[in-house]
Amino acid sequence: MIVLDRTHTTGFLDDEELTSAAPVVSTLHQHLVERRVPGADYLGWLDLASRTLAAGVADIEEAAQRIRDRADALVVIGIGGSYLGARAGCEWLKPAYYNQLPKAQRGGPEIYFFGNHISADAASDLLDVLQGKQVYVNVISKSGTTTEPAIGFRVLRAWMQQTYGEAETRQRIVATTDAAKGALRKLAEEEGYQTFVIPDDVGGRYSVLTPVGLLPLSVIGVDVRELLEGAAWAETAFGTGALADNLAYQYAVMRNALYRKGFVTEVLAHFEPSLHSFAEWWKQLFGESEGKNGKGIFPASVGYTTDLHSMGQFIQEGYRNLFETFVHIERTRRVVRVPAAEVDDGLAYLAGKELAWINDKARQATAHAHAEGGVPNLLVQVQDQSARSLGALFYFFERACAMSGLLMGVNPFNQPGVENYKQKMFALLGKPGTAQA
Ligand code: PA5
Repeated sequence: MIVLDRTHTTGFLDDEELTSAAPVVSTLHQHLVERRVPGADYLGWLDLASRTLAAGVADIEEAAQRIRDRADALVVIGIGGSYLGARAGCEWLKPAYYNQLPKAQRGGPEIYFFGNHISADAASDLLDVLQGKQVYVNVISKSGTTTEPAIGFRVLRAWMQQTYGEAETRQRIVATTDAAKGALRKLAEEEGYQTFVIPDDVGGRYSVLTPVGLLPLSVIGVDVRELLEGAAWAETAFGTGALADNLAYQYAVMRNALYRKGFVTEVLAHFEPSLHSFAEWWKQLFGESEGKNGKGIFPASVGYTTDLHSMGQFIQEGYRNLFETFVHIERTRRVVRVPAAEVDDGLAYLAGKELAWINDKARQATAHAHAEGGVPNLLVQVQDQSARSLGALFYFFERACAMSGLLMGVNPFNQPGVENYKQKMFALLGKPGTAQA
């Protein structure tokens, strides 16, 4: 289901430096599966998909159906790992203009993501668009104490209470949070909200296949079993410690080998606008997992061919510390051809050609040109844009990220650095108990 091609690393990486990593990968793999690595309390994602399939997702599907039957709009409140996966899934699996389509064609309510910023204008703009709609909310926070979603939730809850009354508002809110701890858990219990649990042993950025991702995606009509089946397939496909047989570990080894040679920025490149949020999810996964102790590959992303007309110049000829990973979908969902036309626009040679074919030639040309320009690049390919492929790809990168962080010598499962801005912000805000700036 997943192909990894390193043709365009020729001259940058040789076979020996990859195969020689096999013993260390095998040892780290053993430590990972025996839960003897830093952050071992957060390895629940390793077999989450297969366990969830075995337990069933009827509770998620029932809650989703209830919302789908009643809602014009679902607002998903969360930040970081508590929203990026759902957003990536939504864009990957649903049409680009999903919210603008008639409901029957959408397969679910409109979907909005909120609580991932503290912007007054963005908050007001959302309330404007929700006017007159039947709104339901899924508020998601593992800690239950994160400032941005907590503020977003307050704003939206106040609006809902004013619009629907307190009792009705309670029926329209589903909270996804810790089983026992945090302000959101406490509030959910006091108010009687329906709740879903984020397992203790799954960190935010590895949580897309928990109710964090599954509930919002199910509400908009995604078959979450297919998503889980793809990930469960990947658990087996990328579950071996033998480097020669594990593409996720090979990717981890290649990016570490490039990093040691000074390629300290990895650019995730795609040719489909619908992969924009997938790239955002990927950036969080790798950025939070590896960027610590003065180490880490800086994860960036571009959407081609759009960005060939902006960042393309830098990538082709700018400072040489970049490598790229192209995420490519082999088959597009729809076929569009360049129409024949009686105009002299220089495109007669493309008349009748499929856009997907042209896009793919652009991808091949870009990979070649960038490698020639000193930017080694890898290709990660899935066959189609299905939920199954997405599930497999989520897991591929999670597994690769864990191995990559371990190879780099960091704990891939913590994020101590995100606390620093919070402490300074709390002091500036005058939060009781914080040192005043
Ligand atoms: O990966 C992580 O742990 C973080 O990005 C969190 O997902 C993010 O900070 C949101 O945290 P919470 O779900 O506790 O509100």
